[in-house]
Amino acid sequence: MDRIRIVGGTPLRGTIPIGGAKNAALPLMAAALLTEETLRLTNLPHLADITTMAHLLAQHGTSMHLNGGEGGVGSASGRVLELQAADITSLTAPYDLVRKMRASVLVLGPLLARFGACRVSLPGGCSIGTRPVDLHLKAMEALGAEISLDEGYINARIRDDLNGRLRGGTIMFPAVTVGGTENALMAACLAEGETVIMNAAQEPEITDLVNCLTLMGARISGIGSNCLRVEGVSSLHGTEYSVLPDRIETGTYAIAAAITRGDVELVGANSAALGAVFSALNECGVEVIETSRGVRIRADGAEIRGIDLMTEPYPGFPTDMQAQFMALMATANGASMITETIFENRFMHVPELCRMGARINVHGASAIVRGMPRLSGAPVMATDLRASVSLVLAGLAAEGETIVNRIYHLDRGYERLEAKLAACGANIERLRG
Ligand code: EPZ
Repeated sequence: MDRIRIVGGTPLRGTIPIGGAKNAALPLMAAALLTEETLRLTNLPHLADITTMAHLLAQHGTSMHLNGGEGGVGSASGRVLELQAADITSLTAPYDLVRKMRASVLVLGPLLARFGACRVSLPGGCSIGTRPVDLHLKAMEALGAEISLDEGYINARIRDDLNGRLRGGTIMFPAVTVGGTENALMAACLAEGETVIMNAAQEPEITDLVNCLTLMGARISGIGSNCLRVEGVSSLHGTEYSVLPDRIETGTYAIAAAITRGDVELVGANSAALGAVFSALNECGVEVIETSRGVRIRADGAEIRGIDLMTEPYPGFPTDMQAQFMALMATANGASMITETIFENRFMHVPELCRMGARINVHGASAIVRGMPRLSGAPVMATDLRASVSLVLAGLAAEGETIVNRIYHLDRGYERLEAKLAACGANIERLRG
């Protein structure tokens, strides 16, 4: 199994290109199932999760054509994927693919709305929490679906009295759910009549999906708000759409600059989507400067102060940046309290950071981090994507050698991580085998 070796202590300097957003690309790919025409996605990142979604769509019968650049160092152009779901041959999303990636459940809304029925494996728990899909299922029921569960699968079909088409309805999410909002939106586009989605997630990835669906002929209002209205249409058509820049990749490299007390420009970054992360960085003493190409993060000579923060749905501080920010706080001057409100088990990086000398105590949903001048390198491993990258960040700042194991997690969400960091002076390499 591949590992990453880092010798820490070098302040990062240079530029890092930001790729397309994984969490926007996955629902956009699923949206291809809503039409028989071609959906052409550009600025697609080259990541393991994107490949998994492509396999899933291919086994449903979607034809795919991939071309374009790799979106690597020196190029932020990304790849181009054409998807055409004209000849769907299977309405089943099998366990083998869904268990690899929970976002597979995003085929539920499109398949149900366009074909009237589907069978999707239940994803099961994962390392950051139980993560049920009950709210996705309630949303489908509100649009006229009958749902039953058997042998670990969700069986969804349009109620017999509805003549093969979902019917618009009111969906009131009792808690904010990104994937649930995406499934509801996609299904509502092809339902008959109006759907109102209340307490909808407002993440930039939702807005990206809404913009793409609109270009495909959907009629959606309330864009960017927590109340989306969808006037169903009988069919959607193909379009071309460019995936938005990855805000979590941007935030992660911003912390790489901060934790090494470096100075890095993130080219292609969309600062508007990172308000909460950038204000937290400002508050702890890091300069965030808009440039014509993106954003520059300056921490050379900075004294990083400990601050408190809490994860929240957008526009709050993202849970997907919590582990990375905790690594930064482990090197800050003073204490910090970090509270996780989205997932119940998202502190798996804490014991690993502690093995690198960090002083962190967890009390329920909060972690108290007492910063210290220097972490020390160690062999570490992690159980999810963002936890893994927090260990890479800690390794960049630590004295001596850090070996990060189980890096297949990193490959799910960070394209050419080592190359991008090495181009800014990091001493980092991938050890094969
Ligand atoms: C999306 O997951 C992201 N994944 C996650 O990114 C991100 O952490 C999360 O949103 C929160 O921002 C993708 O976009 C592919 P949720 P999702 O539904 O949609 C509970 C990463 O590292 N819930 O908003 O699965 C759930 O258990 C990842 O890139 C229910 O109870 O998240 C969680 O506590 C990991 N029932 C909370 O809601 C449901 O039916 C938020 O989950 C659905 C969710």
